[in-house]
Amino acid sequence: MRRGPAAPAAPAGGGPLLRVQQVRKTFGTHVVLDGVDLDVEEHAVVVLIGASGSGKSTLLRCIDLLEEIDDGVIELAGTDIADPRLDADVQRARMGMVFQQYNLFGHLRVIDNLTLAPRLVHKVPADQARADALAMLDRVGLADKARAFPDELSGGQAQRVAIARALVGRPELLLLDEVTSALDPELVGEVLTLLAELKSTGLTMLLATHEMAFAREVADEVCFLHAGRVHERGTPAQVLSDPQRERTQEFLRRITG
Ligand SMILES: Nc1ncnc2c1ncn2[C@@H]1O[C@H](COP(=O)(O)OP(=O)(O)O)[C@@H](O)[C@H]1O
Ligand SMILES: [Mg+2]
Repeated sequence: MRRGPAAPAAPAGGGPLLRVQQVRKTFGTHVVLDGVDLDVEEHAVVVLIGASGSGKSTLLRCIDLLEEIDDGVIELAGTDIADPRLDADVQRARMGMVFQQYNLFGHLRVIDNLTLAPRLVHKVPADQARADALAMLDRVGLADKARAFPDELSGGQAQRVAIARALVGRPELLLLDEVTSALDPELVGEVLTLLAELKSTGLTMLLATHEMAFAREVADEVCFLHAGRVHERGTPAQVLSDPQRERTQEFLRRITG
Protein backbone atom coordinates (compact mmCIF):
# COMPACT_ATOMS: atom_id res chain seq x y z
CA MET A 1 0.00 0.00 0.00
CA ARG A 2 1.07 3.53 -0.59
CA ARG A 3 1.47 6.31 1.92
CA GLY A 4 -1.34 6.85 4.41
CA PRO A 5 -4.13 9.26 3.64
CA ALA A 6 -3.80 11.03 6.94
CA ALA A 7 -2.05 14.36 6.75
CA PRO A 8 0.30 14.88 9.69
CA ALA A 9 -2.02 16.39 12.18
CA ALA A 10 -0.40 16.31 15.57
CA PRO A 11 -1.67 19.19 17.65
CA ALA A 12 0.73 21.98 18.34
CA GLY A 13 2.38 21.25 21.67
CA GLY A 14 1.63 17.52 21.59
CA GLY A 15 -1.41 15.80 23.06
CA PRO A 16 -3.86 13.41 21.46
CA LEU A 17 -5.26 13.98 17.98
CA LEU A 18 -8.80 13.71 19.34
CA ARG A 19 -9.71 14.77 22.84
CA VAL A 20 -13.27 14.30 24.07
CA GLN A 21 -13.89 15.77 27.49
CA GLN A 22 -16.99 15.58 29.61
CA VAL A 23 -19.28 15.33 26.61
CA ARG A 24 -22.94 15.32 27.47
CA LYS A 25 -25.79 14.62 25.09
CA THR A 26 -29.46 14.27 25.91
CA PHE A 27 -32.46 13.56 23.75
CA GLY A 28 -35.34 15.19 25.60
CA THR A 29 -35.06 13.85 29.12
CA HIS A 30 -32.98 10.86 28.05
CA VAL A 31 -29.35 11.33 29.02
CA VAL A 32 -27.38 9.31 26.47
CA LEU A 33 -23.88 10.66 27.07
CA ASP A 34 -23.23 11.75 30.62
CA GLY A 35 -19.69 13.04 30.69
CA VAL A 36 -17.69 11.00 28.18
CA ASP A 37 -13.90 11.37 28.30
CA LEU A 38 -11.90 9.84 25.48
CA ASP A 39 -8.53 10.47 23.84
CA VAL A 40 -7.32 9.12 20.54
CA GLU A 41 -3.61 9.47 19.86
CA GLU A 42 -2.47 10.14 16.33
CA HIS A 43 -2.07 6.83 14.37
CA ALA A 44 -3.97 4.92 17.05
CA VAL A 45 -7.02 2.73 16.66
CA VAL A 46 -9.56 3.03 19.47
CA VAL A 47 -12.51 0.66 19.61
CA LEU A 48 -15.80 1.51 21.30
CA ILE A 49 -17.78 -1.39 22.66
CA GLY A 50 -21.00 -1.44 24.61
CA ALA A 51 -24.53 -2.76 24.61
CA SER A 52 -27.00 -1.68 21.98
CA GLY A 53 -28.32 1.72 23.04
CA SER A 54 -25.25 2.58 25.12
CA GLY A 55 -24.55 5.61 22.94
CA LYS A 56 -21.75 4.45 20.61
CA SER A 57 -23.40 5.88 17.50
CA THR A 58 -24.42 9.04 19.32
CA LEU A 59 -20.84 9.61 20.44
CA LEU A 60 -19.47 9.10 16.94
CA ARG A 61 -22.15 11.40 15.52
CA CYS A 62 -21.34 14.06 18.12
CA ILE A 63 -17.65 13.88 17.22
CA ASP A 64 -18.53 14.17 13.52
CA LEU A 65 -20.69 17.21 14.40
CA LEU A 66 -23.83 15.52 13.13
CA GLU A 67 -25.32 15.98 16.59
CA GLU A 68 -24.94 19.05 18.73
CA ILE A 69 -23.53 18.32 22.17
CA ASP A 70 -25.13 19.79 25.29
CA ASP A 71 -21.86 20.23 27.09
CA GLY A 72 -18.20 19.30 26.97
CA VAL A 73 -15.30 19.70 24.59
CA ILE A 74 -14.36 17.93 21.38
CA GLU A 75 -10.85 18.86 20.27
CA LEU A 76 -9.30 17.78 17.00
CA ALA A 77 -5.58 18.53 16.83
CA GLY A 78 -6.10 21.16 19.51
CA THR A 79 -9.10 22.92 17.95
CA ASP A 80 -12.42 22.88 19.80
CA ILE A 81 -14.40 21.76 16.75
CA ALA A 82 -17.78 21.97 18.48
CA ASP A 83 -17.25 25.69 19.08
CA PRO A 84 -20.34 27.25 17.47
CA ARG A 85 -18.23 30.12 16.18
CA LEU A 86 -16.42 27.71 13.83
CA ASP A 87 -17.85 26.55 10.51
CA ALA A 88 -19.04 23.00 11.24
CA ASP A 89 -18.71 21.98 7.57
CA VAL A 90 -15.05 22.97 7.54
CA GLN A 91 -14.39 21.05 10.76
CA ARG A 92 -16.40 18.04 9.59
CA ALA A 93 -14.31 17.88 6.41
CA ARG A 94 -11.31 17.09 8.61
CA MET A 95 -12.94 13.75 9.48
CA GLY A 96 -14.32 10.84 7.53
CA MET A 97 -17.30 8.83 8.70
CA VAL A 98 -18.49 5.43 7.58
CA PHE A 99 -21.86 4.02 8.58
CA GLN A 100 -23.26 0.52 8.92
CA GLN A 101 -25.43 1.05 5.83
CA TYR A 102 -22.82 2.36 3.46
CA ASN A 103 -25.11 5.16 2.24
CA LEU A 104 -23.79 5.15 -1.33
CA PHE A 105 -25.86 6.98 -3.93
CA GLY A 106 -27.46 4.19 -5.93
CA HIS A 107 -27.97 6.27 -9.06
CA LEU A 108 -24.30 7.26 -9.24
CA ARG A 109 -21.39 5.15 -10.42
CA VAL A 110 -18.75 4.32 -7.83
CA ILE A 111 -16.37 6.95 -9.17
CA ASP A 112 -19.08 9.62 -9.03
CA ASN A 113 -19.92 8.65 -5.44
CA LEU A 114 -16.31 9.45 -4.62
CA THR A 115 -16.02 12.70 -6.57
CA LEU A 116 -19.37 14.21 -5.59
CA ALA A 117 -18.45 15.88 -2.29
CA PRO A 118 -14.96 16.98 -3.38
CA ARG A 119 -16.41 18.65 -6.47
CA LEU A 120 -19.59 20.14 -5.05
CA VAL A 121 -18.59 20.93 -1.49
CA HIS A 122 -14.86 21.41 -1.69
CA LYS A 123 -14.68 22.79 -5.25
CA VAL A 124 -11.92 20.40 -6.27
CA PRO A 125 -11.44 20.56 -10.08
CA ALA A 126 -13.09 17.58 -11.83
CA ASP A 127 -9.81 16.13 -13.15
CA GLN A 128 -8.18 16.19 -9.76
CA ALA A 129 -11.26 14.83 -7.98
CA ARG A 130 -11.26 11.95 -10.46
CA ALA A 131 -7.57 11.24 -10.01
CA ASP A 132 -7.91 11.33 -6.20
CA ALA A 133 -10.93 9.04 -6.36
CA LEU A 134 -9.20 6.51 -8.60
CA ALA A 135 -6.16 6.50 -6.34
CA MET A 136 -8.37 5.84 -3.33
CA LEU A 137 -10.30 3.08 -5.10
CA ASP A 138 -6.99 1.50 -5.97
CA ARG A 139 -6.04 1.67 -2.34
CA VAL A 140 -9.10 -0.28 -1.26
CA GLY A 141 -8.54 -2.76 -4.10
CA LEU A 142 -11.50 -1.69 -6.23
CA ALA A 143 -10.00 0.32 -9.08
CA ASP A 144 -11.77 -1.99 -11.52
CA LYS A 145 -15.19 -1.06 -10.07
CA ALA A 146 -14.95 2.66 -10.77
CA ARG A 147 -17.68 2.55 -13.40
CA ALA A 148 -19.95 0.09 -11.58
CA PHE A 149 -23.16 1.09 -9.87
CA PRO A 150 -23.49 0.31 -6.15
CA ASP A 151 -26.06 -2.44 -6.72
CA GLU A 152 -23.51 -4.29 -8.84
CA LEU A 153 -21.22 -4.63 -5.82
CA SER A 154 -21.18 -7.14 -2.99
CA GLY A 155 -21.85 -5.69 0.46
CA GLY A 156 -18.18 -5.97 1.29
CA GLN A 157 -17.19 -4.14 -1.87
CA ALA A 158 -19.83 -1.46 -1.22
CA GLN A 159 -18.48 -0.91 2.25
CA ARG A 160 -14.92 -0.66 0.92
CA VAL A 161 -16.18 1.96 -1.54
CA ALA A 162 -17.79 3.83 1.35
CA ILE A 163 -14.47 3.72 3.19
CA ALA A 164 -12.67 4.99 0.08
CA ARG A 165 -15.20 7.80 -0.15
CA ALA A 166 -14.59 8.76 3.47
CA LEU A 167 -10.84 8.81 2.81
CA VAL A 168 -10.83 10.79 -0.39
CA GLY A 169 -10.68 14.12 1.40
CA ARG A 170 -7.62 12.87 3.36
CA PRO A 171 -9.24 13.13 6.78
CA GLU A 172 -7.16 13.45 9.92
CA LEU A 173 -9.46 11.00 11.68
CA LEU A 174 -11.70 8.20 10.40
CA LEU A 175 -14.86 7.36 12.37
CA LEU A 176 -16.53 4.03 11.69
CA ASP A 177 -19.87 2.93 13.11
CA GLU A 178 -20.34 -0.85 13.02
CA VAL A 179 -19.26 -0.98 9.42
CA THR A 180 -19.41 -4.77 9.24
CA SER A 181 -22.70 -5.33 11.08
CA ALA A 182 -24.87 -5.33 7.96
CA LEU A 183 -22.58 -7.69 6.01
CA ASP A 184 -22.96 -11.39 5.39
CA PRO A 185 -20.42 -13.18 7.59
CA GLU A 186 -18.23 -14.20 4.65
CA LEU A 187 -17.82 -10.54 3.64
CA VAL A 188 -16.77 -9.21 7.02
CA GLY A 189 -13.16 -10.30 6.65
CA GLU A 190 -12.33 -8.21 3.59
CA VAL A 191 -13.51 -5.03 5.33
CA LEU A 192 -11.64 -5.78 8.55
CA THR A 193 -8.52 -6.62 6.55
CA LEU A 194 -8.78 -3.24 4.85
CA LEU A 195 -9.08 -1.48 8.21
CA ALA A 196 -6.00 -3.29 9.49
CA GLU A 197 -4.11 -2.22 6.36
CA LEU A 198 -5.24 1.37 6.85
CA LYS A 199 -3.95 1.27 10.37
CA SER A 200 -0.57 0.12 9.10
CA THR A 201 -0.43 3.24 6.91
CA GLY A 202 -0.85 5.42 10.00
CA LEU A 203 -4.52 6.33 9.73
CA THR A 204 -6.11 7.31 13.04
CA MET A 205 -9.42 5.55 13.65
CA LEU A 206 -12.20 5.50 16.21
CA LEU A 207 -14.71 2.76 15.63
CA ALA A 208 -17.68 1.06 17.19
CA THR A 209 -17.69 -2.65 16.52
CA HIS A 210 -18.84 -5.99 17.83
CA GLU A 211 -15.91 -7.76 16.17
CA MET A 212 -13.95 -8.65 19.28
CA ALA A 213 -11.31 -10.67 17.44
CA PHE A 214 -10.59 -7.61 15.32
CA ALA A 215 -10.47 -5.37 18.39
CA ARG A 216 -8.06 -7.77 20.04
CA GLU A 217 -5.72 -7.75 17.07
CA VAL A 218 -5.88 -4.19 15.83
CA ALA A 219 -7.03 -1.86 18.61
CA ASP A 220 -4.58 0.11 20.70
CA GLU A 221 -7.31 0.82 23.20
CA VAL A 222 -10.78 -0.53 23.92
CA CYS A 223 -13.39 1.65 25.63
CA PHE A 224 -16.51 0.10 27.12
CA LEU A 225 -19.41 2.51 27.12
CA HIS A 226 -21.98 2.10 29.85
CA ALA A 227 -24.44 4.44 31.57
CA GLY A 228 -23.36 7.35 29.44
CA ARG A 229 -19.68 7.11 30.25
CA VAL A 230 -16.54 5.21 29.41
CA HIS A 231 -16.99 2.66 32.15
CA GLU A 232 -13.74 0.80 31.54
CA ARG A 233 -10.82 1.33 29.19
CA GLY A 234 -7.49 -0.26 28.49
CA THR A 235 -5.60 -2.39 26.05
CA PRO A 236 -7.61 -5.14 24.36
CA ALA A 237 -5.86 -7.66 26.61
CA GLN A 238 -6.94 -5.74 29.70
CA VAL A 239 -10.53 -4.97 28.78
CA LEU A 240 -11.44 -8.03 26.72
CA SER A 241 -9.47 -10.72 28.54
CA ASP A 242 -9.26 -9.38 32.07
CA PRO A 243 -12.06 -6.88 32.61
CA GLN A 244 -12.05 -5.40 36.08
CA ARG A 245 -15.58 -4.10 36.35
CA GLU A 246 -18.68 -6.16 36.72
CA ARG A 247 -20.65 -4.46 33.92
CA THR A 248 -17.83 -5.07 31.49
CA GLN A 249 -17.61 -8.71 32.50
CA GLU A 250 -21.35 -9.11 32.12
CA PHE A 251 -21.36 -7.46 28.68
CA LEU A 252 -18.52 -9.65 27.41
CA ARG A 253 -20.16 -12.79 28.79
CA ARG A 254 -23.35 -11.86 27.00
CA ILE A 255 -21.78 -11.27 23.60
CA THR A 256 -19.45 -14.23 23.65
CA GLY A 257 -22.25 -16.50 24.84
N1 LIG B 1 -32.09 11.19 17.30
C1 LIG B 1 -32.44 10.59 18.44
N2 LIG B 1 -33.54 10.96 19.13
C2 LIG B 1 -33.89 10.37 20.29
N3 LIG B 1 -33.19 9.38 20.86
C3 LIG B 1 -32.10 8.95 20.23
C4 LIG B 1 -31.66 9.52 18.99
N4 LIG B 1 -30.53 8.89 18.61
C5 LIG B 1 -30.27 7.97 19.56
N5 LIG B 1 -31.21 8.00 20.53
C6 LIG B 1 -31.23 7.15 21.73
O1 LIG B 1 -29.96 7.24 22.33
C7 LIG B 1 -29.60 5.99 22.89
C8 LIG B 1 -28.25 5.59 22.36
O2 LIG B 1 -28.38 5.23 21.01
P1 LIG B 1 -27.16 4.89 20.10
O3 LIG B 1 -26.19 5.99 20.18
O4 LIG B 1 -27.71 4.57 18.75
O5 LIG B 1 -26.57 3.60 20.81
P2 LIG B 1 -25.65 2.44 20.22
O6 LIG B 1 -25.04 2.93 18.95
O7 LIG B 1 -24.65 2.16 21.29
O8 LIG B 1 -26.55 1.26 20.00
C9 LIG B 1 -30.71 5.02 22.55
O9 LIG B 1 -31.56 4.92 23.67
C10 LIG B 1 -31.41 5.68 21.40
O10 LIG B 1 -32.75 5.34 21.36
MG1 LIG C 1 -25.10 2.21 17.04
